[in-house]
Amino acid sequence: MRQLLIREGASELSYEIREIVKKARLVEKAGVSIFWENIGDPIQKNNKLPEWIKNNIIELINDDLSFGYSDSKGVLKTREFLADLNNQRGGARISAEDILFFNGLGDAIAKLYQFLVPASRVIGPSPAYSTHSSAEAAHANTHPLTYNLNPADSWYPDMDDLYMKVKYNPNIVGIMIINPDNPTGMVYPLSILKRFVDIAREFNLFLIADEIYLNVTYNGAQSYALADYIEEVPGISMKGISKEMPWPGSRCGWMEFYNRKSYPEFNRLCTTLENAKMIEVSSTKLPQLTIPKIMGDHRYKDYLKCNNEKIGKRAKIISEKLSGIDQIMFNETYGAFYNTIVFKNGYLNPKQIIEIKNASVKALVEEWVKEEGVNFDKRFVYYLLGAKGVCVVPLSSFASGLMGFRVTLLEENETILNETFSRIRDGLIEYLSSARA
Ligand SMILES: Cc1ncc(COP(=O)(O)O)c(C=O)c1O
Repeated sequence: MRQLLIREGASELSYEIREIVKKARLVEKAGVSIFWENIGDPIQKNNKLPEWIKNNIIELINDDLSFGYSDSKGVLKTREFLADLNNQRGGARISAEDILFFNGLGDAIAKLYQFLVPASRVIGPSPAYSTHSSAEAAHANTHPLTYNLNPADSWYPDMDDLYMKVKYNPNIVGIMIINPDNPTGMVYPLSILKRFVDIAREFNLFLIADEIYLNVTYNGAQSYALADYIEEVPGISMKGISKEMPWPGSRCGWMEFYNRKSYPEFNRLCTTLENAKMIEVSSTKLPQLTIPKIMGDHRYKDYLKCNNEKIGKRAKIISEKLSGIDQIMFNETYGAFYNTIVFKNGYLNPKQIIEIKNASVKALVEEWVKEEGVNFDKRFVYYLLGAKGVCVVPLSSFASGLMGFRVTLLEENETILNETFSRIRDGLIEYLSSARA
């Protein structure tokens, strides 16, 4: 080519949640049935939408207007409904004009960082949902900038680490929070969330809260929305229907802008995002139309409660299976539908294996573990896949230096759930005892 085509940041775009699938498919082809624990898609895990929700969607399909473009920002009636829902919480107030729809939150995340100047950085959690960390790093042409979540403290953010990083890096313009969190499954208490606001206020930053799991909490946990605690600080909440409705294939998510009018530069970011969507014309319309009908239905609250209770029950089953293994850190979860398990320091070494009976799978795994860049947790993940047929995601691919792996809490079939986590437990014990460090 006459000129360089791709800028440096492009190498930050990787998504192990899907990459691992390519390897799992090869194992499957060699005759091993796979237990898929890699992706947070409730539908893939046998979740069934109730008839009343489907009937609402069918009604909309029968209306020809559903097939046109919507307003660039999104369907007005839906934005009014969502603004009202937010305002009923009694925190930061918004109008329909402060809401902007996207083709899923993935699309919103990609756009969010794209327009910031490369030197302006948004610091996010580590481990991180990698769509955020990759998109932010790609915009800055370098690695993600992160604050630590601490597995020894219920995966809560290390606020001193965050404070020092913000204080000594004047390039940081924003802080990103995921609450409830993917990949740790933690729900943050109000006291911690208020400290994010204090830091943002002290250093003139904006806040971004990915709240796609806001209504996915269980076993007594309560989640707080950014609007509840942000006060006068500028911020963006990111929400969607992929997880709670759940309709991940709808590709429908939105941003809510708080306090934009008080901060001209932040307001410019919001306007830029709106203009970018205008150039694109609009986002997927049909799922937007369903939102007031479904979320406004008197059955929705109980429906969420029932789904959350099921996830909570699975959290307990997984806890029973995986707690009590000395060499790992296990935290019971209270929100979203993931759990991240960490190997304690010093318990991993390059000689560990899990016996693989299928000769061709064994050959595959032995080849993979020799690949460049395969660190200790990927090594475990490959052996678990080959020997036990369970496909999990290595923690190191969530912008983290910790070694571990992420599982989901989504399997609806209790027999399969028990089988999956017995296999993970057996895999862990066999791997960790196969060659002591
Ligand atoms: C924290 C978080 N944000 C955003 C997304 C993407 O959601 P969407 O399906 O709306 O693109 C996910 C999906 O797993 C997620 O876990």
